[in-house]
Formats: sequence, structure tokens, C-alpha cells
Amino acid sequence: MMGGEKSKAIGIFDSGIGGLTVVREVMKELPNENIIYFGDTARVPYGSKSKDTVTKFSEQIVRFLLSKDVKAIIIACNTVSSNSYDDLRSTFDIHFAEVVTPGAEACISGLKGSRVGVIGTEATIRSGAYERKLRQFMPDITVFSKACPLFVPLAEEGWTNNTVARITAEIYLQELIDKEIEALILGCTHYPLIADCIRGAAGFIRIVNPAEAVAANMKKFLTESNLLNDGQGAESRFFVSDNTYKFNRMCGLMLGNIYEAEKVDIERY
Ligand code: DGL
Repeated sequence: MMGGEKSKAIGIFDSGIGGLTVVREVMKELPNENIIYFGDTARVPYGSKSKDTVTKFSEQIVRFLLSKDVKAIIIACNTVSSNSYDDLRSTFDIHFAEVVTPGAEACISGLKGSRVGVIGTEATIRSGAYERKLRQFMPDITVFSKACPLFVPLAEEGWTNNTVARITAEIYLQELIDKEIEALILGCTHYPLIADCIRGAAGFIRIVNPAEAVAANMKKFLTESNLLNDGQGAESRFFVSDNTYKFNRMCGLMLGNIYEAEKVDIERY
């Protein structure tokens, strides 16, 4: 393997800032890797859109990331992973890592009973992708799913632990708590941003953040493919489809560093 291949960046994308929760885990797990991130801030939310629209948007983003010569792509967005993963895989010749499979695996591991919950966007829940995957791993599992669309604007607004966020979490989660679930998958990349509220409302229920397992899976793939970057001085670059100000602020808060995102006309791709 040529050194050039190894030093190529990992592409990561999401509908907005949510995927930064995945970037955070990738930076921890793979500190030597270069990262190219795209957040579709002009077209967020994806969760209320049709599968066709989500797939079309994702294809444009993948074409943009390929123009940056990435070596693998993490579909950080659960809505894209659960609706468009198969389409993307059949259209593009690059390794994709999605979030549903590692999220389901992490949920099953250590489970004592068989009752679990999944929260996500309307499109993720409607796709049934988490239920299918969980059942594939554990046929007798009972899955309760709930769309929590208001969590996305709360996270985008930075309202991650105020009264509105707390009450919203309590109202959304009560139905799942009543079902006596043992674990709850955060099936949307925005949700770890309001994890404190979710934890507060969920009590002793185990919270599963797929982002951690996604980063570990990418490490495994790069190691097995001999693609780990052995150079020093990893660089992360961020691209968005709309104003950069709000994104930069959230990026700084979440990653503990100052980054200047660049604006891209994604419709060109
Ligand atoms: N971050 C997206 C996901 O993980 C959801 C946000 C949206 O609706 O665009 O599904």
C-alpha cells in the first residue's frame, strides 16, 4: 500500500451538526487520521423528508467527498444510514461505514432481557432499519420505536440542557419508559448532544450511542485494509452548505478546538 493512500482523509457526513458527535469519537479512536466533514446545514432536517430526497442529497454529498479524494466514508446520519445505505453502496465504489449495524450490536451486547427502545427521526423510525437489524442479531427481541423530531432543532439551536429540552425529553420518553425497556438506542446523531436530558428522563435505562461503535468499526476496517495513516499531524476540515457561523460555534464547543468551516454549493455535485 502506498503512503499516499494511507494519508487520505476519512469522509464523514451528516445533515448538519449532529455528525460532529461521530467526529468526536473518531478523533478519540483514530487521532492520526485526517478528516473531511460535510454538514448539510442548508437542507437539514433530513428526518422529515422522503427516502428519494434523502438519497439524492446523500449522493451529492458523496460526490463532493470523492472530489476530496477520501479513502472511506462514514455515513454519520442515521436517517441516511437507514434509508439510503444500500443505494449508496450500489452507486459508489468506496467503503461506507453506516451507523445502524454498530448501534444495534452495541445495544444487544450486555443485554439481560429482551426489551429495548429506539428513538430517531421520523424517516429513521419509518424505515424500520433498527428493528430489522436488532431482530437479525436477536430474533426474540421486542423493540419499541419512537420518532422524536423536536430533539433535532433543540440540538441545532444549542438548547441541549434547558427547561424546554428537559420537558421535551420527558414527554417523548415516557411512552418507552412505561414499556420497561432496558436499553435505549440514540438513533440520531443529534441526540447525544442532549444526552444529559435524555439520561435524566430515562433514569436507569442504558443509553446506547452508536457513534462509539462506529469509530471502533472504522479503526478495524482501516487496520485490516492496511489503510491506517502512519503520518503525523492529522488535519480536520469542515464543509457546510449554508452559513458557517453557527456551525463553527457548535464545532468549537463539541470538539474543543477552533475550526473555520468552508461553504460549499452542494447542488453543483
Ligand atoms: N442527524 C440526523 C440523523 O442522524 C437527523 C437530523 C435530521 O433530521 O436531519 O438522523
